[in-house]
Order: sequence, then structure tokens, then C-alpha cells
Amino acid sequence: MNEKFVIAIDGPAASGKSTTAKQLAIKLKYIYIDTGAMYRASGLCTLLQNISLDDKIALKEMLDKISIRIEYAEEGNRIYLNTEDVSERIREADITKLSSQIAVIEIVRNKMVELQRKMGEDGGVIMDGRDIGTVVFPNADFKFFMIADVRTRALRRWNEAKDNGEVIPLEDIKEELIWRDKNDTTREISPLKQADDAIPIDTSKMTIEEQVEMIYSIIKRGLNA
Ligand code: DC
Repeated sequence: MNEKFVIAIDGPAASGKSTTAKQLAIKLKYIYIDTGAMYRASGLCTLLQNISLDDKIALKEMLDKISIRIEYAEEGNRIYLNTEDVSERIREADITKLSSQIAVIEIVRNKMVELQRKMGEDGGVIMDGRDIGTVVFPNADFKFFMIADVRTRALRRWNEAKDNGEVIPLEDIKEELIWRDKNDTTREISPLKQADDAIPIDTSKMTIEEQVEMIYSIIKRGLNA
């Protein structure tokens, strides 16, 4: 596949977006852009600079100067905030919560959307997030909306944590996912929702290989249609 498409994958946390998008990007030789990581990096930036989310003037100054870079690495992309590699730090629980809180703020979203459009302007990208098919690239060549039931999603996160040597009660993970789903779907600006022309994929009973294969075959079929 030599064409340089824009592929949008949206959906709630732990629905399988990023794992699928990452593997699909390798298969298609596309660039993978994790837009959630950008909201996470912005949240971390407020913490490092001691900026309150209510202080819109300071927030605007911060956003005017912010640099968020996604660098390809075989074992997983690295995220740089200004010049610092924050790839691990942005996955911690405090930043997970903060990213969902900062994502409701209009000036933050405007800045992230501007950066994301720039990153995807030449095509050949797979971008995952919450508003890629609805706002960032409403004309994306392919749009997918991944969902999974909350128990399955919580179990996925629980297993990931376990692999990293952390023991987190499953109920706590479930509650956090429900809180984030609510925050992400009910915000006024660009809430998480399926674009009218997105293809829904319920990954509750699917393996990662099946998810990747399904999307890959839809893309191939679309190209031959
Ligand atoms: O995908 P993630 O869990 O890393 O995203 C972290 C938060 O960022 C999520 O709670 C909502 C927000 N987000 C968003 O509002 N829009 C996006 N395109 C991506 C993420």
C-alpha cells in the first residue's frame, strides 16, 4: 500500500486503539500518532510549571511555548515535552486523571488539534484518540471507532499493570475508567463520540491480532472497491 492515507481510530480508554494502531502502523509502514499522549504531556507541563487549570492566561502562555514531539522507536514511540523524554512519566495515575481534566479546556484542544493536523498533513499516519474522525481529520480516508465492555477494558489495564509489577485492585481500575468515560463523553468541546461515517469495532471478544487483521482487511477492501 503506497498511498499515504490518514487513518483515524477513536474510542474510549483501553478499547484496544493504541495497541491496534501501533501494530497496524508497522504493517502499513505508517507513522503512529498517539494523541492521548499529547494531552498527557500538556497536563504534565502544567504540573511542572505549577500552573492551575483555572489560570487561562498562564495556560495560554504555556501553550504558546509548548513543544511536544513524538519520535519513532522500534520498541514504542517516545514522547518529548520540550526537551525532556516524558514517555514513562505521562503514564502515571496522576497524569492520567489530569489529562482528562485538561482535555475539556478549549485553548488546550485548539492547540493540540493544530499540532495534530500539522503532524498528519502529509498523510501516511494512523492517529488514535477521541476526536480524530470527528474534529481533527473529519475527511480521514478511514475511520474506526473501537469499543469494549468496561470489565474487559479494566482487565486489560489490570494485566498491563501486573506485567509492570504493579498490583491495582480491579475495582479501582474500573471506577477510574468509568470516571474518564463520563468526563470524555460529556465535555462540551469535542466529546468522545463515534463519527457518523466511522466503522464501529467491538473488541470485547477479540484478540489484538484479530483487531489488526480486521482493520487491515477493511482498508484493503476499501481500496479495491
Ligand atoms: O488515550 P489516553 O487514555 O492516553 O488519553 C488521555 C486523555 O486525553 C483522555 O482521558 C481524554 C484525552 N484525549 C482527548 O480528549 N482527545 C484525544 N484526541 C485524545 C485524548
